[in-house]
Amino acid sequence: MASQGIKGPPCKFIHGCTKEISKLKKDVMMKMNEPMTNVSHEILPIVEPHIHKWNKLYGDIKKILGDGLVATEGKKWARQRRLAHLAFHGESLKGMIPAMVDSVHALLDRWQKLEAKEVELFEEFAMITSDVISRTAFGSSYIEGREIFQMLSELTIVVSINLFKLRLPRIRKIWKTSDDIKSERLEKAICDALLGIIEKREKKVNVGEMDDYGNDYLGSLLKAYHDPDKSKRITIDDLMDECRTFHLSGQETTTSILTWTIFLLAIHKDWQEEARKEVTDVFGNEDPNHEGIMKLKTVGMIINESLRLYPPVVNTIRKVVRQVTLGDLVLPQGIALQIPILTIHHSPRIWGDDVHLFKPERFREGVAGAVSNDAAAAFLPFGLGPRNCVGSNFTTTEVKIILAMILRHYSFTVSPDYVHLPSQILTIRPQHGLKVILHPL
Ligand code: HEM
Repeated sequence: MASQGIKGPPCKFIHGCTKEISKLKKDVMMKMNEPMTNVSHEILPIVEPHIHKWNKLYGDIKKILGDGLVATEGKKWARQRRLAHLAFHGESLKGMIPAMVDSVHALLDRWQKLEAKEVELFEEFAMITSDVISRTAFGSSYIEGREIFQMLSELTIVVSINLFKLRLPRIRKIWKTSDDIKSERLEKAICDALLGIIEKREKKVNVGEMDDYGNDYLGSLLKAYHDPDKSKRITIDDLMDECRTFHLSGQETTTSILTWTIFLLAIHKDWQEEARKEVTDVFGNEDPNHEGIMKLKTVGMIINESLRLYPPVVNTIRKVVRQVTLGDLVLPQGIALQIPILTIHHSPRIWGDDVHLFKPERFREGVAGAVSNDAAAAFLPFGLGPRNCVGSNFTTTEVKIILAMILRHYSFTVSPDYVHLPSQILTIRPQHGLKVILHPL
């Protein structure tokens, strides 16, 4: 790629660029520990200091990685994608709305009993999103779900901390760090907990308590696992992997976007009022329902602007399967391209000079109206193409319900102790949490 004018940081033997990435991230963390005096949404230099630095040094956006694709491919992907699509769209999604509303009622009931009205919202949202995905996709109880999420969260932190510490696989097998041991223990415990949920559902069918495996995502996976046609069957490992993937992707990302949206509304009272007015006009004193959710235009614009400024997933990857020409570039077969979502969302060339300001009105005419030069693909919080996010409708519905119900009961402001330090631990999250003061309405 260098011969085509694509420059990048020098890659060191064994470590590549991972040492520099770790160092830049550490430097940022050390610098930014004071309470905020001035909130800025220019978060690229904080969340991805390496990309920010390399963009300046080597030009716009092109970071070329080595091997990087992890997820399933080919026929297996297509089959599992279909199952997930069926479970998280259309009528199935509509059917999940009452369970989502119930989860928010439980949250609001708890808040009502709180003495002090200052709450740590990142943690609250982590709880509610885990409750929602547990109930809607796996029919499991809050307690069962919570156990899995706590372990997944711990695992995420261990993995993220070690992401840029490169070690040779053979050495890793012989000499294990305390983090290796901890992650092995967590992985085993997560497997056991998931197996427990799977076996419980199978038992219900075996003893006649349920007629079939059910219509939620776990039900579709179990039907596929027991498919009489062997060629269509999925294995127990596939089933476990899907359960794990959906527990994690269904929770981390939604927690992130909820947290940042509330943060943005807390510091932009005008938009908070406008959103509250829309919610009251649409639902009155009723609980959110499917028809009403479709009418929430202002809330939708706010969510889009929040997804633009703080996209929970900062990068996605595409592998070049065969040589292809992209504009002036010839991309050789086998390389992996990192698509830097956060960088694209923060490009002044695409979004204009006010790129770092919170302006939901950009989305008044939809995504196409928000970007210059007809670059609609530049808004890609859920990725693009056939491999885009299968949970995007699910998450948008969930976020709208949670926001609508909170807006109706509380106005909110950010605690004076808040430290603005967005950091990446799988998704973008506030490093020191988000404390918010709730004012009952
Ligand atoms: C705000 C919330 C979310 C964001 C920002 C988000 C973002 C993304 C992105 C960027 C990708 C990669 C797309 C690509 O490479 O083109 C992705 C894939 C995926 N997401 Fe999400 N996601 C969110 C919520 C969810 C939820 C709630 C679920 C599950 C219920 C989910 C399940 C998945 C799965 C399974 C994939 C892989 C799809 C495939 O490879 O076919 N996501 N998501």
